[in-house]
Amino acid sequence: MIRKTALVTGANSGMGLAASVELAKRGYRVLMACRSLERGSQALRRVEAAGGPGCAELVLCDLADLASIRRFADEVHSRVSALDVLINNAGVVSPKRRETADGFELALGVNHLGHFLSTHLLLDLVKASAGGRIVVVASGAYKAGRIHFEDPHLCASYNVVKSYGQSKLANILFARELALRVYGDGIAVNALHPGAVLTQLGVDRGTGFGQGIYRALGRMPSFQTPEQGASTAVYLADSPEVEGISREYFYRSRPKSLDRKAEDDDTALKLWEWSEREVGLR
Ligand SMILES: NC(=O)c1ccc[n+]([C@@H]2O[C@H](COP(=O)([O-])OP(=O)(O)OC[C@H]3O[C@@H](n4cnc5c(N)ncnc54)[C@H](OP(=O)(O)O)[C@@H]3O)[C@@H](O)[C@H]2O)c1
Repeated sequence: MIRKTALVTGANSGMGLAASVELAKRGYRVLMACRSLERGSQALRRVEAAGGPGCAELVLCDLADLASIRRFADEVHSRVSALDVLINNAGVVSPKRRETADGFELALGVNHLGHFLSTHLLLDLVKASAGGRIVVVASGAYKAGRIHFEDPHLCASYNVVKSYGQSKLANILFARELALRVYGDGIAVNALHPGAVLTQLGVDRGTGFGQGIYRALGRMPSFQTPEQGASTAVYLADSPEVEGISREYFYRSRPKSLDRKAEDDDTALKLWEWSEREVGLR
C-alpha cells in the first residue's frame, strides 16, 4: 500500500496535535508544521509514540512571518513530492491588538493570510497527489465577523470578537473560493467548525495569560477534548465518505448550512484578490 502524506499546521498542541496523532495511527506520514522547535519536538515525540518511529517529522513555520512561510514551503518541497492532505489548523486569538512581522493584524495575519500564502506555495504538491484534500479549520465564530475591507487590520478600532470573527469568516470564504479554483485538479476543499474544545487557544504562550480561564473552562462538561474536536478534521482528511465532496462546511462530521455572508462569492473573490496583494502574490 502506498503511504499517504499529510501536513498539519499548528501541530504541536490542541486539535492539531490530536489530528497528527490520529493520522499517524492510520498510517500517514505526518509533516507537523510548528513555529517552536521546542514545543514541536515534544509534540513529535508524542506522535511517534502513537504512530511509531519515523511516522512524523517537524517542519518549522511561523505563520506570522511571510519570510518564514516561504522558507517552510521550500523545506516541504525538499522533503516530499506530493501531499495527500493539507490541514490548515493553526490559529490564534488575541485580547489585545498585535501585529505579525509584516504588520498584519495578528489573527487575520496568522489565521487567514499566513495560510493563504502557505496554501498557495504548497498547492503544486497537493495537485501532485491523486484526489488531494485541503481541510480548513474555521469556527462558528465567523458569525460574529465581517470582512472590514475599509480597515482590515483593525487599526482604527479593535476588539477580540471583531478580530477573531473576521479571521474565521475569511477562512470560510477562502475555502469556498479555493474549492472553485482547484475543482479541475481533483482537489477537495472543505471547512469546518470543531465545536467548543478545551485547548490552549487564547492562552499567551509567553506570559501564561489566560491559563486561569483555561482551567475554569476545563471544569465545564460541555467542552470537548482535543481528540473529539479534531475528529471532523480527520474525517474530512481521511474518510472515503467525503470523496467527491468539496466547498462544504462541516460540524460534527456532517455538512452544516452557512449564514449568507459566508456564502457571498463576491466578497470571497474580493478577499482573495486583496489577500494576493497583501502577501505579495500579485
Ligand atoms: N478550541 C476551540 O474551542 C475552537 C473552536 C473553534 C475553532 N477553533 C480553531 O481550531 C484551531 C486549532 O486551535 P486549538 O483550539 O487546537 O488551539 P491551540 O491548542 O492553541 O492550537 C493552536 C496552534 O496554532 C499554533 N500557532 C499559533 N500561532 C502560530 C503562528 N504564528 N505560526 C504557526 N503556528 C501558530 C499554535 O502554536 P504555539 O503552541 O506555538 O502557539 C498551536 O499549535 C484554530 O484554528 C482555532 O481557531 C478552536
